Amino acid sequence: MHPIHYTVSYRASFKPELPDFFIQKFVNRKNAMILDPFGGRGTTAIQSNLNGFGAVHNDLSPIAGFLGRARRRIPELAELKARLETLELDSRKSSIGAEEFRRLEPFFHERTIHEIQNLKQMHLENADDTALSYIALTALSRLHGHSDGFFSVYSFPQISIMPDAQRRNNAKRGLVPVYKEVKERIWKKMKRDLSQPLNNDFNRAASRNRYLACDARSLDLDTGSIDLIVTSPPFLDKVDYKKDNWMRAWFLGVEDQMDDLPLAIFARLEQWKQFMKEAMIEFGRVLRPGGHAVIEVGEVVSSGEMVFLERELASMLPLQVEGGHIRAVEICINQQEFTKLANCWKVTNNSRGTNTNRCLVFQKS
Ligand SMILES: C[S@@+](CC[C@H](N)C(=O)[O-])C[C@H]1O[C@@H](n2cnc3c(N)ncnc32)[C@H](O)[C@@H]1O
Repeated sequence: MHPIHYTVSYRASFKPELPDFFIQKFVNRKNAMILDPFGGRGTTAIQSNLNGFGAVHNDLSPIAGFLGRARRRIPELAELKARLETLELDSRKSSIGAEEFRRLEPFFHERTIHEIQNLKQMHLENADDTALSYIALTALSRLHGHSDGFFSVYSFPQISIMPDAQRRNNAKRGLVPVYKEVKERIWKKMKRDLSQPLNNDFNRAASRNRYLACDARSLDLDTGSIDLIVTSPPFLDKVDYKKDNWMRAWFLGVEDQMDDLPLAIFARLEQWKQFMKEAMIEFGRVLRPGGHAVIEVGEVVSSGEMVFLERELASMLPLQVEGGHIRAVEICINQQEFTKLANCWKVTNNSRGTNTNRCLVFQKS
């Protein structure tokens, strides 16, 4: 799929092939709008735009909101290069506070910290600058990882580990963060991500997008305004979004907001089902009659037993919603190949974690 999807990693994101499959299957109206109420890094919105449709990206997390919004316009590479060149990231000083500095020190060389802080500051002061947003998005994806392309010393790529854990890793491996020039790494990554031409319609389609930060059970959308929903809700107690994303939240200046987010994290199946019932009723409300919703879940182990979440969702249908009913249409299952990433998470194929995409499809009538 288009490399623009992979600009940034996001734990629990689905593959773009998934929304693409359902967009091709269900959407044929020219001005269709496609919604992801648990938008994450924006896979559904981006794929909708690549296919020429407008999208609504909703997510309670301000990080996910940024990941979506930062690709609301994809500038030409030449424009990005020119904008990057104007940024003076002077690596010897910045406005960073002593406490923040100490948290970042295990990951980065001092000069790198100042460059990152300067970029952070410029981005926060110019939130409407779409070229700068795209540059900041690329920087955010380069913060920490395991190769020279990242700003950090050897670290975990997908989640931010805590400073003490990084200190221990450094001691164990005998590592000291060396200076990594920020702009050079951003440029290399931008070139890679934009190596394939974008469909001419992308920016036109994306100009119709909306970005919301609502609870998925109460969306700021008109009844009957959405053609297709493709989404993946939080599963059972799988991901600690706040902790795993602390450095991204710092870079985006949203750490305070992360503390009070009422994200859906449930330990018990019954709680999750109640939450999802309310969410499905809301999805049914915003769908136009005849529109479909695809909810991708996985198999999880709950109280020692394998639970197929799509079946749990299907068992709650049909439901009455504003403007009609929603009824289960089919369950689509994609068996995934074993991936290198799964290996890194110590997920052995089809025995732990979620290895298949299991999708419940329902329709409004
Ligand atoms: C499984 S991830 C979705 C990933 C997405 N499909 C992608 O490809 O990036 C679930 C998302 O739901 C968001 N979320 C959790 N509770 C929510 C709620 N009550 N309302 C809206 N979004 C919520 C989380 O912030 C997270 O980004």
